[in-house]
Amino acid sequence: ARARIQDNASRGLWSSRWVFFLAATGSAVGLGNIWKFPYVTGQNGGGAFVLVYLACILLIGIPLLMTEVMIGRRGRANPDGAVARLAREAGASSRWRLVGWFGGLTGFLILSFYLVVAGWALAYVPATFSGAFTGVSGEASGELFGALLADPLRLVVCATLVLAATMLIVGFGVRGGLERSLRFLMPGLFVLMLVLVVYAAIEGEFAQALQFLFVPDFSALTAQSVLVALGHAFFTLSLGCGAMMVYGSYLPEGTSIAKTSILVALADTAVALLAGLAIFPLVFGNSLEPGAGPGLIFVTLPIAFGQMPLGQVVGGLFFVMLVIAALTSAISLSEPSIAWLTERFRISRTKAVLGSGLVLWLLSLGSVFSFNHWADYQPFGKTFFDTLDYLTTNWLMPLGGLGTVLFTGWVLQKQVVSEAIGIRSNCLFLAWWNLLRYGTPVAIVLVFLNLMGLI
Ligand code: PFF
Ligand code: NA
Repeated sequence: ARARIQDNASRGLWSSRWVFFLAATGSAVGLGNIWKFPYVTGQNGGGAFVLVYLACILLIGIPLLMTEVMIGRRGRANPDGAVARLAREAGASSRWRLVGWFGGLTGFLILSFYLVVAGWALAYVPATFSGAFTGVSGEASGELFGALLADPLRLVVCATLVLAATMLIVGFGVRGGLERSLRFLMPGLFVLMLVLVVYAAIEGEFAQALQFLFVPDFSALTAQSVLVALGHAFFTLSLGCGAMMVYGSYLPEGTSIAKTSILVALADTAVALLAGLAIFPLVFGNSLEPGAGPGLIFVTLPIAFGQMPLGQVVGGLFFVMLVIAALTSAISLSEPSIAWLTERFRISRTKAVLGSGLVLWLLSLGSVFSFNHWADYQPFGKTFFDTLDYLTTNWLMPLGGLGTVLFTGWVLQKQVVSEAIGIRSNCLFLAWWNLLRYGTPVAIVLVFLNLMGLI
């Protein structure tokens, strides 16, 4: 016990549970909400997909979010070390640490393409402020985005800047810098999203968008869409890749994990739905294709910024906020592997940051070239970028989550978990516990089997 206390002191903790809430929300809210949610919803037919996604958040995402934070706080180490410690305490094989290790790897891979998309947002900051979108039509906006994708140098420069900023903040330690930026970011982002929704409601096809988003058409739902909805629930809540575990490992004792997790999930869902409400009225109003893919918001939103009063400023600010939201998520994506390198191999934070920065940069080139030089290289019917996104989000994250729930529900002792999670009501605890032991793993396995055509 003494060793653990000393450990804690040297690793440091969030200064309050409010800061933890901000950091976890900063991790959750990002490109997943504003870039990915609208485009996957568009590709998967709208309402029915949204419904399945919301069910996944409620029944799998929130229980797992609580679990990951709990493992982190109890293990007080990087995901690999935290799981190993809990396994040892439970008298189980330390091989379970693979669950934590695997998550860190998944996060690393995600970061390599996340940076590239964050780079698009960064490229749009000067473009919007300088009025490049003034009065653009849907077609012209599509061409401007296409020109960005066709320019590897611009993409590399932008992704590199995002990578450098992420690594700089992570290098100085996650806790200091995050708090300040998040205090104004979250409210600011929320207000700008509301402005966009109001604009879209006035100028766009709001009724059609509402219908598309909230009236489920189950004939549009395939096994593939269900997998994507599950994967997106993981992606948007930063699950299955160690991020919430490592943030939980800095969480002071005595904070209600359950309440905080629910609030984080609510904030995340609210931002995603607002993004949908802002984008789809414009998609339909400008006769764009909802299933257009990853470029959806980068084609749609500039049209609005090009028309609305003060659009240059509002739009510029929007992309600034999107970049910051992406940064706070990118930080949480890299922290598990950085913490792992420093704690497992006792190398300095600087070395860990430089080493992983280099590998990330090389990997990110693969994503950059997916949109130009290597666009036709599609061995599995997808580009490098799409393959990486598809594999990590829809397979690796849910697999990591499955490992985590099996470990918690079947390896750890109920008594220990109950103490660590700190849910006071016995009834609520049992609901969560049973969901974790049976509901969540069965649901994940069913989705996998269904997709593989086995059921
Ligand atoms: N949740 C982030 C988003 O929605 O943009 C992405 C993300 C961050 C995924 C951290 C995974 C992670 F560990
Ligand atoms: Na999110």
